[in-house]
Amino acid sequence: MSISSDEILVTKAKAVRDHAYAPYSGYLVGAALRATDGDIFTGANVENLSFGLTICAERSAVAAMVSAGKTRWSELAVATKDGGTPCGMCLQTLVEFVEDPANCRILLCGSSGTVTEHRLIELLPMGFASDAVRRVG
Ligand code: THU
Repeated sequence: MSISSDEILVTKAKAVRDHAYAPYSGYLVGAALRATDGDIFTGANVENLSFGLTICAERSAVAAMVSAGKTRWSELAVATKDGGTPCGMCLQTLVEFVEDPANCRILLCGSSGTVTEHRLIELLPMGFASDAVRRVG
């Protein structure tokens, strides 16, 4: 039996979760983001003694993708102990890099093996968007 592309993404999210640096909350998060060209980028949460400096796993993965020169993704897997959803800040960051939030799949994975599938539009139905803010590049 072949391994599905979803299983690969989930496996990578779970693997990078092992590298999460979360000594303050103890809540480990791993994220694996598949760019539209098929390449996968991963990130873990990185906490800091100055709590507000914490970087979420999803935004770590976005930074890795953009740093590799890619600005579009199609699938994201997030691994936590309880299948938790990405925070609002991460969802707004994620929507920056999609063509259509209705076509972007998000797999939420719990450590017991549960995986639930969602669309970005479902998790962020009214993300910030304004024609009054102009893109300069
Ligand atoms: N966290 C993430 O990595 N992603 C989210 O979308 C929500 C929260 C992290 C931040 C912090 O290290 C820990 O989970 C508890 O909030």
